[in-house]
Amino acid sequence: MIYADYNGSAPICADVKEYLVKRIQEGPYSNPNAIHHLGQKVLMGMENARFSCSKILGCKPGQILFNSGSTEGISHIFYSLLCGKLDDGKNIIVTSGIEHSAVVKTAQFYEEKGFEVKVCPTLPNGVINFEALELTLKENEGKVALVCIMAANNETGVIQPYAEMAEICKKYDAPIFSDTTQLIGKDEFSFDESGLDYAVLSGHKIGALTGTGMILAKDLTTLKPFIIGGGQEKDLRGGTQNYLGNETLAVALNYFKENKEKLEALKAKRVDFEKKLKEKFPSIVIMGEDAPRLASSTYISYPGIHGQAVQIELESEDIYVTTSSACSDNEPVTSKVLKAMGVNDEVGRGVVRISLGLCSPVEWYDQVFDALSRAYEKLGKIQSY
Ligand SMILES: Cc1ncc(COP(=O)(O)O)c(C=O)c1O
Repeated sequence: MIYADYNGSAPICADVKEYLVKRIQEGPYSNPNAIHHLGQKVLMGMENARFSCSKILGCKPGQILFNSGSTEGISHIFYSLLCGKLDDGKNIIVTSGIEHSAVVKTAQFYEEKGFEVKVCPTLPNGVINFEALELTLKENEGKVALVCIMAANNETGVIQPYAEMAEICKKYDAPIFSDTTQLIGKDEFSFDESGLDYAVLSGHKIGALTGTGMILAKDLTTLKPFIIGGGQEKDLRGGTQNYLGNETLAVALNYFKENKEKLEALKAKRVDFEKKLKEKFPSIVIMGEDAPRLASSTYISYPGIHGQAVQIELESEDIYVTTSSACSDNEPVTSKVLKAMGVNDEVGRGVVRISLGLCSPVEWYDQVFDALSRAYEKLGKIQSY
């Protein structure tokens, strides 16, 4: 089997599996907030995990808030920065057209509450239009409550110049949150060097347990309590912490730290894979081809051949990819991310996403290449009848 849907969810990393088996067998278990010895031991384990994560992510332990993942983190950041801001005359949210639905729908929610959402345009290569961003910030100086533009896209893998975005936002005194869900664990990242005010991480995207994650905040005290409860996580997120899950975040990030050199090999193989495909099928289109992209993502289309048909062909060979194009009434539609990049429907309906991770053998690209070639040849013939 070849699992090529890491951007959807990564398999649990081998180090995390090994850690969990031992940890579950040996304990200790307790409420980390209990003052007895076992509670304190569990708390120490979780705080050690926070410390390890902070070292790898380039921040201080006091800048990490453990939670259930990025959707929660996004909602929490929006809530903290927007609640009460209409009264202060800060009524503008700046975002982009390529955001994940967790951001899009949260922004819509606040739009219904009276905020104005300004969507920064995207260039055809998937990078946001920087001049347009700066102009929006300039024209609305003093009124922007939050800028929310992602760091790496889940469909295309295109990486935004998030550090430069942070600099511009600083110039206009606008708080910036970048959805780093797809970037962390797949590319170098230092929260401190990024200049961002807020970032998020999702455990299941990096090989840790599902239902784990964190917010990184320059200043955690700018967050408001989101889940009211027993004072956990500095009173910002009530509820007994998922300490086992939080420990797996440190193990998965440590795996990334120790295996970073694999990124280069993965990227070189991905470049070679795309080159060979283009040579064999000159009409194929690679989304964001000329933009900086994650080492492990290819989003490809053979115009006129439906992505879902290709996905089914690959699945019959035990290769799991995704199309990302929503389907209504059996009529595939171009995703909003691709629409924001100006991709037409013929190309948009054909997309297939191949996303791998640090633990995937690079030879998988050769097998995906062969299977994809067979699928395109077969479906191309059917189509020409
Ligand atoms: C870019 C991006 N943001 C947010 C999310 C939501 O993350 P979670 O599943 O941790 O809630 C995802 C998951 O697909 C994502 O890819």
